[in-house]
Amino acid sequence: MVDVLVIGSGGAGLSAALAAKEAGASVLVVGKMYPTNSQTSMAQGGMNAALGNVEEDHVSLHIADTVKSAHGLCDEDMVRQMCADAPKTIEWLETLGMPFSRIEASQSDANQDSSLFTLHSSLKTIAQRQMGGASAKRACYAQDYTGLKLLHTLYDTCLKEGIDFLDEHFMLNLVVPGDTVKGATFLNIRSGEVRQINAKSVVLATGGYGSVYHGFTTNMYGATGDGIAAVLRAGGAVSDMEFIQFHPTALKHSCILVSESARGEGGYLVNEAGERFVDELKPRDEVARAIFSQMKEGQRIFLDVRHLGEAKLMELLPQEVELCKIHEHVDPAKELIPIKPVAHYSMGGIDVDGALEVNGIKGCFAAGECSNAKVHGANRLGGNSLLEITAFGRFAGENAFKHAIYASSKPADDAQRRKDEAEIQALFAQENSESFYTYRERLGELFYEKVGIVRENAQLNEALEEVIAIQVAQKQMGISDKSQSNNQNLVEFLEFKNALLLAPAIISAAIARDESRGAHFKVGFEEESDAFKKHIVLQWKKETA
Ligand code: FUM
Repeated sequence: MVDVLVIGSGGAGLSAALAAKEAGASVLVVGKMYPTNSQTSMAQGGMNAALGNVEEDHVSLHIADTVKSAHGLCDEDMVRQMCADAPKTIEWLETLGMPFSRIEASQSDANQDSSLFTLHSSLKTIAQRQMGGASAKRACYAQDYTGLKLLHTLYDTCLKEGIDFLDEHFMLNLVVPGDTVKGATFLNIRSGEVRQINAKSVVLATGGYGSVYHGFTTNMYGATGDGIAAVLRAGGAVSDMEFIQFHPTALKHSCILVSESARGEGGYLVNEAGERFVDELKPRDEVARAIFSQMKEGQRIFLDVRHLGEAKLMELLPQEVELCKIHEHVDPAKELIPIKPVAHYSMGGIDVDGALEVNGIKGCFAAGECSNAKVHGANRLGGNSLLEITAFGRFAGENAFKHAIYASSKPADDAQRRKDEAEIQALFAQENSESFYTYRERLGELFYEKVGIVRENAQLNEALEEVIAIQVAQKQMGISDKSQSNNQNLVEFLEFKNALLLAPAIISAAIARDESRGAHFKVGFEEESDAFKKHIVLQWKKETA
């Protein structure tokens, strides 16, 4: 029996694994893909920490910006913890060798006491840039590859520390025989075997549910909220599911992200007439809505970075340049970049307490985009996701270890494994007269159209009705590939089922929230209402055997 089972091998999972291992735990990281293949790489622009290297900044300003952007739905203690620890978090990454972009020592403005700690002097040359909604240049970055470099740094360190990995294992369910987690069940994608891994503590770091907006999201296909769905099935709570962040600048035809750092470095948003129509550095919810209303008027919208010049673009934003050339066939140094806002980040997720323990399931912790640690509230600030996954990933790993010290080492029986094995076998026999791929596309369109940037109750109700109809039609959907091993068709069906399970939770919460707050904007209810200054929490009654 492993002490700490980490499910998910993105930035939050790797950070949790390192912290648990450092504390003395035996650790196993299980992921459905491979560690560096994670949504973490989509946070390209940077990671916030009030180092004050380029201009004056202070932890209190970072806290204030985060609280303001959350529109009353954050836990200020959690925000304080994340922001106050941010310089230390950057320092930790620096010691691991994270290749941050640098400024000359002579350019550094870091003689002020901007943090609550005494930091290593090498931190003073870490370059920092502006992100939307921030009152200072606060995002530490590695060109526009920040998330990817973070992943590589963490994974290299995990390997150095001898942490065990099990890749290509799709989580089926948590094992929760009473009120405490005892492990989880997985489909071994390579062999087709269903297995149970027993653990004293579990950390869920399984990512968000942006791919409910299939075809209209920066997220990879597999961002289907698998861990969140598993928590619901196991009797745990989820919250704030209606809050989905739309990133203002995705490439128009492929939905590939163009980092906010392009605007942070001075890029403009313009319409067909070449007019700027919004302050590009407002928080994402406001910028996305401004683009949406231009598009409603029939305007095509572009990101314009031509004035930055090729040399600066290649120094600061090389990935964006390459992505624009490959996927949109435009050269950003010479041409306008066609963009549109698409779903990027889910603020809602697994409801956790101040120790990141899942409400309703003891010994199970959650970190990163799958969890709702109440630091982002109704709208996340750019640059705070990498901070959260690292700082709270570590916090979850430490707390999981503390739980493991006192947890029973008696494993659960294998009832959950047998149940899941029977369910997988039933899927092989299930009718397949309707293609779930068609419904996956439809779900994405439906969400973008009716559960999108600007919502209306009539449309939300139509969306809910259609989702329920799709759930009913699910009985006619199945898998066409009957191979027991390496069955991607089966994995994608399981992912679709998870997305479809979460879909009504998202829409119902959006219907219930008759107000506008952060990323949730509803026609007819355009103001924030005190009556809704609260979290919408959903929990199912646990199935009895
Ligand atoms: O635009 C970006 O670089 C995304 C950053 C983030 O989601 O934090």
